[in-house]
Amino acid sequence: MEICISHTDKILDKYKGTKGSIIPIMQQVQKAYGFLPEEALQRVSDITGTRMSQLYGIATFYTQFRLKPLGKYTIRVCHGTACHVSGAEMLTEAIENELGVKTGDTTKDLTFSLESVACIGCCSLAPAMTIGEDTYARNTPAKAVKTIKKIAKGDKN
Ligand code: FES
Repeated sequence: MEICISHTDKILDKYKGTKGSIIPIMQQVQKAYGFLPEEALQRVSDITGTRMSQLYGIATFYTQFRLKPLGKYTIRVCHGTACHVSGAEMLTEAIENELGVKTGDTTKDLTFSLESVACIGCCSLAPAMTIGEDTYARNTPAKAVKTIKKIAKGDKN
């Protein structure tokens, strides 16, 4: 994936000479690209003098940061208590197998990202998941896989 480094340069210009600005810079970089591309982090490192290992340390410590782009659809499987006891683990396993990715990853074709989230506020519909803006209730592993296949098929049409 090619990125336009001038976005990073503009952000770095804005924070020039401002102490303690690494996290805001990284937030702005992520906002610009949707994730933290390596080339952008390298530029941040070169200009601010912050080591790449430090930047990666920050990026992996804070869950707000992503080192990979998100897919077109983000599947968020609820792992709150109600969903957990209703089979969220099995749901996740089935989705991981279907997509060939682990939770926290994105499919190679950038169609789906899979995330684990805490209670999404519809416990009576457990186990629940969201895909994009839509909520899917009372899932079984088979039902979840069917939903994903349907979305993937619709996406190619
Ligand atoms: S625990 Fe899953 S919606 Fe509340």
